[in-house]
Amino acid sequence: MSHNHPMENSNPSANQHLDSLIEQRMSRRDVLKGGASIGAGVMMGSVALTGCGETKAAEPLQLKFNAVAKSVADSVTVPSGYTARPLVSWGDPLFSGGTVPTTITALTSTQQEQAIGDHHDGMYYFGLSAAGLPDRNSNDRGLLVINHEAVTEDFVHANGPTFDKTTLDSSSLLLPKAGDYSKDSVRTDAEECLKEMALHGISVVEIVKQNGNYRYVQGSPFNRRLTPYTPMQISGPARGSDLLKTVYDTTATKARGTLNNCANGFTPWGTYLTCEENWAGYFGHADVKHDANDTTAGRISLASGTAEQKRQARYGIARHGFQQLRWYSAPDPIGSGDRANLMSRFQLQPQAGMTATQDYRNEANTFGYVVEIDPYDPMSVPKKRTALGRFSHEGCWPKFIVGKKMAFYMGDDSRGEYLYKFVTDAVFTGSENRVNDILDNGTLYAAKFNANGMGEWLPLVASNTTLAMSAVEIAVFTREAADKLGATKMDRPEWTAVNPKNGEVYLTLTNNSQRTTATADAANPRAYSDTFGNPTTRTNNGNVNGHIIRLAETSDDPAATTFRWDIYAFGAEADAAASVNLSGLTDSNDFSSPDGLWFDPRGILWIQTDDGAYLDETNCMMLAAIPGKVGDGGPVTVNNVIGLTAGTVVTVAGKAPTADNLKRFLVGPKGAEITGIDMTPDRKALFVNIQHPGESGGFSNYSQTSLFTEQSSFNALELTAGSRRARSVTLVITKDDGGEIAV
Ligand code: FEO
Ligand code: CA
Ligand code: CA
Ligand code: CA
Repeated sequence: MSHNHPMENSNPSANQHLDSLIEQRMSRRDVLKGGASIGAGVMMGSVALTGCGETKAAEPLQLKFNAVAKSVADSVTVPSGYTARPLVSWGDPLFSGGTVPTTITALTSTQQEQAIGDHHDGMYYFGLSAAGLPDRNSNDRGLLVINHEAVTEDFVHANGPTFDKTTLDSSSLLLPKAGDYSKDSVRTDAEECLKEMALHGISVVEIVKQNGNYRYVQGSPFNRRLTPYTPMQISGPARGSDLLKTVYDTTATKARGTLNNCANGFTPWGTYLTCEENWAGYFGHADVKHDANDTTAGRISLASGTAEQKRQARYGIARHGFQQLRWYSAPDPIGSGDRANLMSRFQLQPQAGMTATQDYRNEANTFGYVVEIDPYDPMSVPKKRTALGRFSHEGCWPKFIVGKKMAFYMGDDSRGEYLYKFVTDAVFTGSENRVNDILDNGTLYAAKFNANGMGEWLPLVASNTTLAMSAVEIAVFTREAADKLGATKMDRPEWTAVNPKNGEVYLTLTNNSQRTTATADAANPRAYSDTFGNPTTRTNNGNVNGHIIRLAETSDDPAATTFRWDIYAFGAEADAAASVNLSGLTDSNDFSSPDGLWFDPRGILWIQTDDGAYLDETNCMMLAAIPGKVGDGGPVTVNNVIGLTAGTVVTVAGKAPTADNLKRFLVGPKGAEITGIDMTPDRKALFVNIQHPGESGGFSNYSQTSLFTEQSSFNALELTAGSRRARSVTLVITKDDGGEIAV
């Protein structure tokens, strides 16, 4: 887990055989599923031709690779017969004239904003035709859009981040002592902070396949970097609201940048959705006083804070935000317009004698959204789609069937937060223009999981008098609305994924250290203890290893207001007690803290981990699965014990995975999270991101003492032992015989 983490339409080319086109179009992740939909919309005309030639005999889907063993090596392991190669790494220049430095710390902020960022996360492949037009069937040329969630500050600067030493905790050598919020530590170097900022955001990068290998195209006119200071439009209900007005834009129609872009989504019309997750940690609030009634020092007091501060507190905004960044305390770089007040805008304290349109007290209300980006138009202005709500957006995956309204499923990743979906007012036709405002109009829902395996979508609408909130307030203070309707508090909702075979929706619940025997419920049923290290260095409590829940919408309708659910798999160590290892995982498929989640077009589910609980025995990993469906298992009684407290919860579990239908495919290097995945339409190249290798400093917590040690030197530029700094990277994985991945 990161330390900065509390948490097209194609014109088919004439020279392809019709069968392969039909197969691809029907099985891309933007599958137009459902019997009623096939033969309609964009599928029209294709289906009648499926009889022509070369249709493969239907063979049951099988995972035909040998499972990879758990590993703590500082390398990437893939199955025998497969090769993983770096495709784009932190620091790779995107534009003509850029060069790769000999040490990553040599990049200036200006060079960094023209190069691939750090902490690669959610990602999507958009095909390009030879003519440079959108082409969803293209394997040899495309655009990768990559989120850059955060930074590993110690790797960015030669000596780590610089603080005014007079502001530091005296017990610390260089940095404010972790967890000590009593000091107002001050950053002193604007260039350092600007470089950190430029490492965030999104990269759009063209890739091509040449001589059998993929490479990225430096200088492609499609290449683009979006940063926390790229101008964006505010769209949807919150556009123009007083709540979003700042001195930067007194009309609240535009805002600067996107932050902490974690998981992603896409639209069937060929755009990318990036999700702003832990944006709250970038803000400071000097007015927030430490309060005796507040058990968390530095947090806004719910007892004595103003109404506005309480709303900020509900999003985790605090006096200091992330310990090591504190951009708000840095001097502003010289700049005007879009580059004015780049640092000070992160300080939410209202300025004396000023109004909301004269300072940045509302800046935080311009973050926390799903942002729609047109990857094919490098001049396009991204749009913050406020109708999809404001929270720690993890992912935003669509479910769409021709003739029905579309749904977008979204996790809110913090402990005890909710699963949401947005249902469009518009009905999907399959011929939407790439540029549209469909995501500005619809209904937001929060999920309630009932103990009997049924669930409800609770509409967050202004007409509900229980909410007593306007449409704008629901868009900006979404958590507050979901609180009022009694949505189910989940074990940190991360990615969502939609099974192309049956339309079921999967959600990773990565872990929850605060789940207790007393608060365990059917959808979040486990609270237990597990030891870490040998000898034991700590005990982890709660839902230590996470689980994957799934739901089937009533009548498979994306707009349904009820659903059935069960738990697909429980994370666990293979040798854990049966009361913990409820899915019966074994050494070839045991995992902890599922996070990234994606169905490929064939219906293979890819599970990626971001773990802190099993790192003593294995680095983070990726598994492939062929899951069943909701209801293929049954009731299970979970026996929970934390300390001396015991309790039981009855849940609904799916049929347990087997060694054949759940297999480990990849293990990453030390200290890395595996996150972000996509595939070419021919299913022969798999793109996977390795995020923050080396960040964890071995098995201890992140600390300054790890700066020059070799916890990980994965993908480093530097050649000298002891100075190597691991870099995040997008890998391309291919099968050595050129065949389809995993089968
Ligand atoms: Fe950025 Fe919730 O993972
Ligand atoms: Ca353990
Ligand atoms: Ca994540
Ligand atoms: Ca995570």
